[in-house]
Parts: sequence; structure tokens; C-alpha cells
Amino acid sequence: MLELHDATVTFAAPGGPLVRAVDAVSLTLPAGSFVVVIGTNGSGKSTLLGSIAGTVRLDGGRIRLAGHDITRWPEHRRARLVGRVFQDPRAGTASSLTVLENIAVASQRGLRAGLGWATTAALREEAAARLGRIAPGLETRLDQPIGSLSGGQRQIVTLVMATWRRPELLLLDEHTAALDPAAADRVVQATAGLIRADRLTALMVTHSLTQAASLGDRLLLVHRGRIVLDVQGPAKRRLSADDLAARFDALRRGDQLDDEAARTLAELYA
Ligand SMILES: Nc1ncnc2c1ncn2[C@@H]1O[C@H](COP(=O)(O)OP(=O)(O)O)[C@@H](O)[C@H]1O
Ligand SMILES: [Mg+2]
Repeated sequence: MLELHDATVTFAAPGGPLVRAVDAVSLTLPAGSFVVVIGTNGSGKSTLLGSIAGTVRLDGGRIRLAGHDITRWPEHRRARLVGRVFQDPRAGTASSLTVLENIAVASQRGLRAGLGWATTAALREEAAARLGRIAPGLETRLDQPIGSLSGGQRQIVTLVMATWRRPELLLLDEHTAALDPAAADRVVQATAGLIRADRLTALMVTHSLTQAASLGDRLLLVHRGRIVLDVQGPAKRRLSADDLAARFDALRRGDQLDDEAARTLAELYA
């Protein structure tokens, strides 16, 4: 379970105004939730995820995860509980190491320092099984440098690495945005399959309204650091991309979404 209470992050642009990138957000995610997060550029999605991962400090409010108050925990301590995948397929992996070596490093992450890593036969078998399950064929690439993989394949390996030790929370920040549509689709299917099979709790930021409508059991729309739309339960299951466009329009008419954001979201949908 993840709980945010009045989480606030303020940035001061040099000489400019203060930006409330996250504005008093309160949110409870029961364990096993798969939440999709959307919003225009600059709405605060990455800052929200960063504040949970510990790369960004809150200047107000609290965060609890899996029974711990992690508000003041440094990033490396939270890494034991939080797995992350970013937009850039190169992030979080070592290009010169093989796929298996990268997984070996990930398998030791968050354990006692100085333990090092080793590519044992047991690890090889487990890595092949996990890769083969979500991306059949990828298990034959274990001994190749991870840098020789395509972006999509690399994101799938990164996903396996990020979830190797079954994190309390998986954070995905537009992890398919840098991929071509076919690869993005494969990575999204692998992601959804993995989250379901391992019953992970996940927050996934996406720029795809199709993904937003079809994936997950809850949808959050972030605007100016606030959650302005929260759809869950049966309403989320029924949600289509058309419904979403209508919801954006309703928010705009209610002045909860400015014209520009409504326009941008409508364009994303088009
Ligand atoms: N490190 C930073 N320093 C100053 N301003 C930042 C920083 N990171 C983000 N911001 C600002 O905070 C707001 C939210 O940014 P971000 O969370 O990256 O949005 P999103 O991920 O939704 O595109 C934007 O106005 C952005 O310019
Ligand atoms: Mg972002």
C-alpha cells in the first residue's frame, strides 16, 4: 500500500516564479493496484513519481509505503521497495555488460553492500524463465551485451531487472515513449502481463490514451500538480478513449482544466 498525504514539491526557477510541481496530493493505492497516470508536459507526473522514488524531496506532506514512513528516506534506501523504468532504454543498465550480468547486478540491488554479484547457474535459469515468459525468444540473448538489444528488448530486460526482487511499488515513467509503435505495444503487453502475474502495485505514466483507457484498474489525470480526474472500479473498466475525450471536455468546462491542456489532451487522443 502506498499513501501520500498532502505531498507537495515546489521548484524555484532562477529569477522566476515558484512552481508547485506537486500540489498537496493525497492518494491511497491499495497493494496490487495498477494505476495509469496521464497529463500534459510539465503537469507534474515525473515529479510525483520522483517524490515517491526519493529523487525529489517533498517540502510538505508525507509518504508511506508498505507500512514505512519513507518521507525522509534517501533514494538508495527506497530502492529496496521501489523498482523503476524510465523512458530512455539505456537508463539503469550497463551497456558493456551482458543481459545476464545486468540481471545479476539487479538481483543484488538493495542487499547488503559489498556483496558483489555473480552469474550462477541458478540465476541463469531463473533469468531465462522470467524473460521467456514475458518476451519469448529474449531468453536466448542472455550472453549478449545489453547494448546490442533493440530499445524494446532492452526495456523488457529493464522491466525484469526492476521487478526482480518483487518491489512493493513499480514506477514506470513513459517507458514506451522512445519506442516505435510496434515495440511500444510489445513492451506494454509485457508490462501488463508482468504486473498481473506478479500482482505488483504499479504507477505507469503514459502519453498514450489508448493505453490509458485499456490498461490498469485506475486512471489519474494530473494537471498543474493536482489530480483532477480519478477513475477506478467499474467506471475504469468501462472507460474508452472516447469517454476520456468527453471527460477532458467536462473538466475544461468546469474550469478544472485550462483550454490549452484540454486541447493538448484532445490532440493526444486524436
Ligand atoms: N529540477 C527541477 N527544477 C525546476 N523545475 C522543475 C524541475 N523538475 C521539474 N520542474 C518543473 O516542474 C513542473 C513539472 O515537471 P514534470 O514533473 O517533469 O512534468 P511532467 O513529467 O508531467 O512532464 C514543470 O513546470 C517543470 O518545469
Ligand atoms: Mg515527465
